[in-house]
Formats: sequence, structure tokens, C-alpha cells
Amino acid sequence: MIYFDNAATTMKKPKEVVEAVVNALTSMGNAGRGANEASLSASRLLYDTRERLCRLFGGTSPRQIAFTANSTESLNLAIQGLVRPGDHVITTELEHNSVLRPLYLMESRGAKLTIVRSKENGVLDPAAIEDACREDTKVIVCTHGSNLTGNYVEIQKVGEIARERGICLIVDASQTAGVFPICVEEMKIDVLCFTGHKGLLGPQGTGGLYVREGISIRPLKVGGSGIRTFDRTHPGEMPTALEAGTLNGHGIAGLNAALRYLEREGIHRIREREQSLMWRFYEGIREIPGIKIYGDFTSQNRCPIVTFNIGDYDSADVSDALLTEFGICTRAGGHCAPLMHEALGTKEQGAVRFSFSHENTEEEVDFGIQAVRTLAEEEEE
Ligand code: ALA
Repeated sequence: MIYFDNAATTMKKPKEVVEAVVNALTSMGNAGRGANEASLSASRLLYDTRERLCRLFGGTSPRQIAFTANSTESLNLAIQGLVRPGDHVITTELEHNSVLRPLYLMESRGAKLTIVRSKENGVLDPAAIEDACREDTKVIVCTHGSNLTGNYVEIQKVGEIARERGICLIVDASQTAGVFPICVEEMKIDVLCFTGHKGLLGPQGTGGLYVREGISIRPLKVGGSGIRTFDRTHPGEMPTALEAGTLNGHGIAGLNAALRYLEREGIHRIREREQSLMWRFYEGIREIPGIKIYGDFTSQNRCPIVTFNIGDYDSADVSDALLTEFGICTRAGGHCAPLMHEALGTKEQGAVRFSFSHENTEEEVDFGIQAVRTLAEEEEE
């Protein structure tokens, strides 16, 4: 099997990630819930992971990193915890349902929503966000990279627009955390939402958010915290304010090992390798008759994703044929990005997405190109 669905989840985790999870499963106590060594070392590991994430994202304090199960939980926490009835919120048509659905929910509770359109090929112009800003705009929610087209968003420009106006910027870094450099301070990001299982190379069920100091998010859940047991209210200080109940310590042990791997290997080197595989694939398929590729390939700065269709061939059928005839895993259909599909005119057909890992090889990419060529020729006949 050849795995080209790394935008959904990276499958080949570094060996040390697997080992760290296995070790934790047989040795980890409950962090913050005891004075025994198993519990204390779990607390130390969680803190060390917060430190590594804070460093990776250019934050000011590890305490501002709260753990969640994934980007969807982080985004729900940020959106439901910051938007109030009557607030005006801006988002974009590049967004995933993990942004759109929480926003529609807040709209049903009285928030006012503006969805900024993209330009040709799904490119987001930060000036369009600027034009949408109003006196009553309280929050902007924007992706750092489209999971459908791979288009990269100049988030620093969005950050400057937001900060100048005192608007809170929530960024969905699902496709970029661990892939592109992120500095929340420089980019003027107020809340950064990330998942552990994609570019960060950690286990599924890990993720979190960085919250700029001074920003207070209403929690989605309250409960056990290991501290101030006799208070009737959940502690308000970060990160406990946004973490109730036992965390996914075993998964976070894997995430910790993944962060060490990324520090050692360097995210620049990993990204360059992934992008070189992406360009090889793009160059290999772009001239095939009947192929239509989506997204902006005029920019070098893009997520390692190539999304396309073959003629009018249903994308799910192409993806099935790639799997059954060639053993190639891809993702077809709507990719939880309904507005981007509508903008590209692919609502009915969907699209076939290849997304690359640094663990993929040139031979796998060439085999993928040949497979697409064969299916396109069959479609022509
Ligand atoms: N959001 C993930 C994707 O794009 C699952 O496939």
C-alpha cells in the first residue's frame, strides 16, 4: 500500500513516537493527581510537552498551551468560548467544517457572520478580510492552509489587520503546525488551534491550543482538575482553565517524542522534502489530458497537497480505482470543506487529494503519476 493521505493523518510515525506511547502505557501515572513518582513524572512530561509546543509556536509561556483531543475540539473551545451573541465574526470560504459548524452554531445563538470569498484557484487575499471588518467585529477565524487546495494563507497580514483593530484572531493550523514556521507573537495570532496527528507526527487524540496571555476563553467543560477540590467552580488559571478531567497522557507522551523528532530533523528540512515530492507529482500529472488541478501553484509556499479531477469522472470512483487497482490511498469527496468545493465548482464531483509525507519516496510518487495517467487514458477511451 502507498499512503498519500497525510493531510488527513500522517500514518508513518517516527519509531520513537511508538516507543514512547508503549512505555507510557505501562509506566505513566495520572498527572497532577498524586505525589508518587509515576504521577510526578507524568506531570513533568506534560510540562515538557507544553514547553516544546510553546517554543515551536513562538509563544510567551508554556502555561498558555492547553491540551485537547484535536483541532476540532480546540476550535470549538476557542469559538464557543470567545464569540458572544451580537458579535460580528469574519471567516473565509477556505475553512473546514471544524470552523464553519461552530460558527454556524454561534450564528444560531445571535452572532453575525461574514464569510469572505476567495479569489481564483481558492487564493485568500487578506485585503478581503480587511474590507469585511466593521466596528462590531470581535473575532476573525482563519485557516493557515487549506486542507483542500493546499493554498497557504499569509496569516501575518491577517494578524496585523486584526491587531490594529483590536479584533481577536483565531487561527486553524491543522495543516501547518509542524510543517511551516509559526510565531504567534510575530504573526499576531491570539489563539492558535492545532492537532497532534498531522504535521506534528504525534498520535491521534492529541492536540491543543495556544492562548495569548490576557485572553480569557470560557471553557466548554469543567470538572476534575487535581487542584482546589473544594471550590465549586473550575480553576480559572491557564492551562487548567481549559483542561478538565484526565488528559490523554499516553498520547501526549507520543506527541512529546514527535516534537523531539521534529526538533532534531528540523521542520524546514521535512517541509522541503514534502514540497519536492508535491512538485514532482504536480509536474508529472499537469499535462495529462483531462486532468484539472485545483489550487494555486504559482506560489512556492504551499502545503504538500495536490488536488485534481479526471474529466467528469466521480472523485470517489477515481480514489477507489487508485486503491483497488494500484494500492494507492488518497482522499476523495468533500474533505469537510463545503464552501471551498462550492467556490471551485466541485460540489457534485468532489476532488481527489494526494497529500505527501517526508516518508514517501520518489518511486511512490512516480508510481502515483503513472496510475493517474492510466486512469485518465481509460476515461478518454
Ligand atoms: N481534516 C482532515 C482532512 O483534510 C481529516 O482530511
